[in-house]
Amino acid sequence: MRKFIPTKPIEGQKPGTSGLRKKTRVFQQPGYLENFIQSVWNGIGGVGGKTLVIGGDGRFFNEQAIQTVLAMAAASGARHAIVGQNGLLSTPAASHLIRLRKADGGIILSASHNPGGENGDFGVKYNVANGGPAPEDVTARIFEATQTIEHYDILRAPPVDLSVLGETALGAMTIEIVDPVRDYAALMEQLFDFAKIRALFQSGFTMRFDAMHAVTGPYATAILEDTLGAAPGTVLNGVPSPDFGGGHPDPNPIWAKELMELMHRADAPDLGAASDGDGDRNMIVGRNCYVTPSDSLAVLAANAGLIPAFAVGLGGVARSMPTSQAVDRVAEAQGLRCFETPTGWKFFGNLLDADMASLCGEESAGTGSNHVREKDGLWAVLAWLNILAEKRCSVAELMQAHWAEYGRNYYSRHDYEAVDSAAASDLIAALRARLADLPGTHVQGLSVLKADEFGYTDPIDGSRSEGQGLRIWLSGGGRMVFRLSGTGTEGATLRVYLERLETDPDKFGDDPQQALADIIAAADQLAGIRDRTGRSAPDVRT
Ligand code: G6P
Ligand code: ZN
Repeated sequence: MRKFIPTKPIEGQKPGTSGLRKKTRVFQQPGYLENFIQSVWNGIGGVGGKTLVIGGDGRFFNEQAIQTVLAMAAASGARHAIVGQNGLLSTPAASHLIRLRKADGGIILSASHNPGGENGDFGVKYNVANGGPAPEDVTARIFEATQTIEHYDILRAPPVDLSVLGETALGAMTIEIVDPVRDYAALMEQLFDFAKIRALFQSGFTMRFDAMHAVTGPYATAILEDTLGAAPGTVLNGVPSPDFGGGHPDPNPIWAKELMELMHRADAPDLGAASDGDGDRNMIVGRNCYVTPSDSLAVLAANAGLIPAFAVGLGGVARSMPTSQAVDRVAEAQGLRCFETPTGWKFFGNLLDADMASLCGEESAGTGSNHVREKDGLWAVLAWLNILAEKRCSVAELMQAHWAEYGRNYYSRHDYEAVDSAAASDLIAALRARLADLPGTHVQGLSVLKADEFGYTDPIDGSRSEGQGLRIWLSGGGRMVFRLSGTGTEGATLRVYLERLETDPDKFGDDPQQALADIIAAADQLAGIRDRTGRSAPDVRT
């Protein structure tokens, strides 16, 4: 039975860098999810007659939320819903399904790398027909709809059994429950040289993939162990759990600590890798050799010719603005177009659609290509495996050779989390006000060459995005960037991105925090981080 439920706007339902992300308890409030979903329908001109892909990363509240989304899609006249079995779909797999099945869009339930559980976070992302995150004009219309909503429609019906593969119906809408892994795994097989990777494992190459109790477990087990012949036990923490085993499913050296420790032992495997809650992020680490996401992008660009999917060459490369300029150096050497976009994968969508870029990456552990319209954790791992299968060298040797050719962009991001929101925006405002006066001044023995606030004009649709971060360039190849995160759920997160180019091969082996010490001190002095936030050190250094 279709129900018309009167409601009122709920404050704060503004999608951020990656959908609407809030504390799980906020989403559990009566009508909260319903208001937002109805606003998605309203913002996109309705779902009548449409086909949607629906799935999530399996976190607490995933299945309940999917039932609500299905009941609301059916009530609003959607024609067909394609749902991952047990409500599971990694973000890249959902993106692929939208494209493969020519769906009109999709709803992905995830708060990505944020912890899950009743006290954790939950999120909703809407993806459009190209498989990518909704662009800004769409999220703006959704947000507008949240502010004017007066009612929502929902079907009152028993929950759909999400565990049984095949077709079922909800009202007039058909529902197809699909294997979340199958189509994705088939796509990977088209992109990479599976025979070469199989041979690599046969030769004794060892790896550990930490699925962090999140959605990539089943994908990694099927692809790495069952198809490519990696030894059983290669996949760690491979069973998705609603609270990610109580952990923080973010693949970086801090949260993937166990894997990092393993990679520093004498008996470390050849390759370590990890992915996040919804499977779009990745971490790559060799024996005693952590690869920053920015370097990983540069290495993939430099060696793209070894990957079958890129045999025809790259259409171009793109990175988010705060990502290090390592890939720019590769692009320059190889005569490739290189784009700099605001933070957020959605900004790569038009470039990928137009084939102006075919490889993209972000410092926030995101790497991907034109095979889907999201970043893709396992894809990045397979790309590395494909390159190592061809090169037959260690990760450390590959990095050394890369730096020797292009120089090393030392890089680190310092995060100050849950900072008082007003203090954080004051810090940015004060620095913004001084930007024009900075060039020519000196700080910590470095001179400021240039300073600006990043804005982006999309080269395809001409849309403009302002206020995307403050950039300051320093003598000696240094750069610092300041911006506030768009994905936090508590107060504000100040991100300070620090970078310096080193071309002297004798200095490639330094600790990044040491190599960047001057720039770190300069950033604090310029922005008054300690004074304004009351913090003596960042919460996270990546
Ligand atoms: C998500 C987005 C990325 C973005 C990252 C950091 O993972 O998908 O595109 O780079 O969040 O965003 P933030 O606004 O928190 O720096
Ligand atoms: Zn994610």
